[in-house]
Amino acid sequence: MELSLDERGRIDFVLTLRRRWADTVYPALRAQYDADPAGTEPVREAVHRQPAYPWFAFLERNAQKMLWRDVSDVVAAHPRDAGTEASGPATLELDPNLELPDWYTDWDIHVQPGGVWRNDASADVYELGAKLVMLGVNDDYTFHRAFTETAVPPGSYRRIVDLGCGFGKSTWPMKRAFPDAEVIGIDLAEPCLRMARDRANAAGLAIRFIQADCQATGLEAGSVDFLMSSMLIHEMPRPALIATLREAARILAPGGKLRFLDFTTTGDAFRDLAMAEHGERNNEPFMPGLLAADVPALCEAAGLAGARWVAFDERGGGRLPERSWPKRAEWHFPWAVLEAEKPQ
Ligand SMILES: C[S@@+](CC[C@H](N)C(=O)[O-])C[C@H]1O[C@@H](n2cnc3c(N)ncnc32)[C@H](O)[C@@H]1O
Repeated sequence: MELSLDERGRIDFVLTLRRRWADTVYPALRAQYDADPAGTEPVREAVHRQPAYPWFAFLERNAQKMLWRDVSDVVAAHPRDAGTEASGPATLELDPNLELPDWYTDWDIHVQPGGVWRNDASADVYELGAKLVMLGVNDDYTFHRAFTETAVPPGSYRRIVDLGCGFGKSTWPMKRAFPDAEVIGIDLAEPCLRMARDRANAAGLAIRFIQADCQATGLEAGSVDFLMSSMLIHEMPRPALIATLREAARILAPGGKLRFLDFTTTGDAFRDLAMAEHGERNNEPFMPGLLAADVPALCEAAGLAGARWVAFDERGGGRLPERSWPKRAEWHFPWAVLEAEKPQ
């Protein structure tokens, strides 16, 4: 996409604003909190009384709003020729009777106007915006490749399913890594699925994209030997998460493996509060609930075994062996992989 000087300037500005929020304002807030002579408990009150807090909170939400405005304008000015790659090895199965859940349509997730589903341009806006949300460090999707390379147990899989595949960036590396497996991407959002299919066709990847709710995929019981998601479960309310874990236990074959890349608490009270409030300020209303939930216990209750969270470092080694994250001063997501399996 060839951007005008004005467009380039707007995008560069919002990206720089977000970087300074992450590498300057967040550490300043942390330093003030750590040095507060009145103490660091209760954590929410202690964080909120620091002089850097209003800057931190305002910038977090409003830089995000600015980002979507800029990205939407750029996408409107450079419409993609959608559908030119509709034919090829990838397929798309849409469900004209699918009803999107209220909790999905009631919120503009990530503050993206209309979310990722409302109109044809939603996927294009999401694609460009997601690069900026990742502060420019995931432009070539190294992060998603790191998941495939380090969090997926080696083996030969017959059927791999990616729940909440979006426009496919978590699904494409799976097909590349396991070319002989049937790879399926499932999502609610038609515009994202169309883009996922088009991009897979352009790359020559034979992936099946299906429009369905991950709480009821329609796949045969016991037919999946690797089930994954990336950035899905923090977007779901607790009943939908429980239903999704039950569906996972239903469709996994005995011995089949589940790996969900998402977020959990780190044990660092400041960081965990910042993450829960990130969810609130970024229109991810179910994030605090996910962070508070005992997700491994929900997995066990759903019929999965050996459930646990391990840390994931998106800029370094990917999946880490334990629940310990590298120390970094700047804001960064507490990525984690939920691991479980279907008992034999
Ligand atoms: C943050 S995106 C992640 C996309 C992709 N997995 C990635 O890693 O970039 C979350 C996706 O989950 C989808 N989603 C949310 N709830 C869902 C549900 N109940 N069933 C299927 N997809 C869902 C959304 O439409 C969105 O595309």
